[in-house]
Amino acid sequence: MFISFEGIDGCGKSTQVKILNEYFISKNIKTLLIREPGGTLLSEKIREILLSKSFEITDISELMLFSAARNNLVATVIEPAINNGIVVICDRFYDSTVAYQGYGRGLDIQKVKLINDIAINGIKPDITFYLKLPIDIANQRANKRKSRDRIEQSGNQFFEKVIEGYDTIANEEPERVKIISAIGSISHIHSLIVDYIKKIH
Ligand code: ADP
Ligand code: TYD
Repeated sequence: MFISFEGIDGCGKSTQVKILNEYFISKNIKTLLIREPGGTLLSEKIREILLSKSFEITDISELMLFSAARNNLVATVIEPAINNGIVVICDRFYDSTVAYQGYGRGLDIQKVKLINDIAINGIKPDITFYLKLPIDIANQRANKRKSRDRIEQSGNQFFEKVIEGYDTIANEEPERVKIISAIGSISHIHSLIVDYIKKIH
């Protein structure tokens, strides 16, 4: 099983993937927890470049770098894990590219989807949890962190568009993408996620 988590920065993905991972471990189910971009030596290097404020990165280069990082992760980590029956839990996957580079940056959505298809080579999540949160609450949560990376400092207008992107994806693929309100408590959100996994598994 391949499960991905999506949502704007600060919506609580990293928190939820960790507790979901612990849930599976408590059931003696083998898991692999990864975050995007990252998860391989090369993809972590690309992550550093993408989040650093030292480079001027054009929107197309940004799209290509996220996609290169993803392709490396899919081919060397995600696909082998799925083939070995391991539950893969991913903090972000290709919907982030449609939402951030497509809707957020304003790149042509069909072209973004084509690049996504090339990068994932047929490996798609079985379930995607979209943790939906208004920008002001996400900002309050993200402000607890030390500093904002290159993408996090893109501003509210950018994040409004990213949310519109996620909402559109969820409407287009209701079978795969489950919208979860990320306003509630950490344990309540976790229980909604587990209930849903139990229902479909
Ligand atoms: P993301 O990975 O989506 O950026 P995090 O999981 O890192 O988000 O959460 C951002 C901040 O909000 C962290 O300080 C975390 O402890 C806090 N947080 C996460 N989930 C909740 C929640 N449901 N209610 C309140 N605060 C939360
Ligand atoms: P990260 O700190 O992992 O995200 P979060 O703040 O949600 O924990 O940083 C990854 C950043 O990269 C985040 O701002 C979203 C962005 N991103 C894209 O723009 N496109 C993508 O395809 C992916 C995977 C991430």
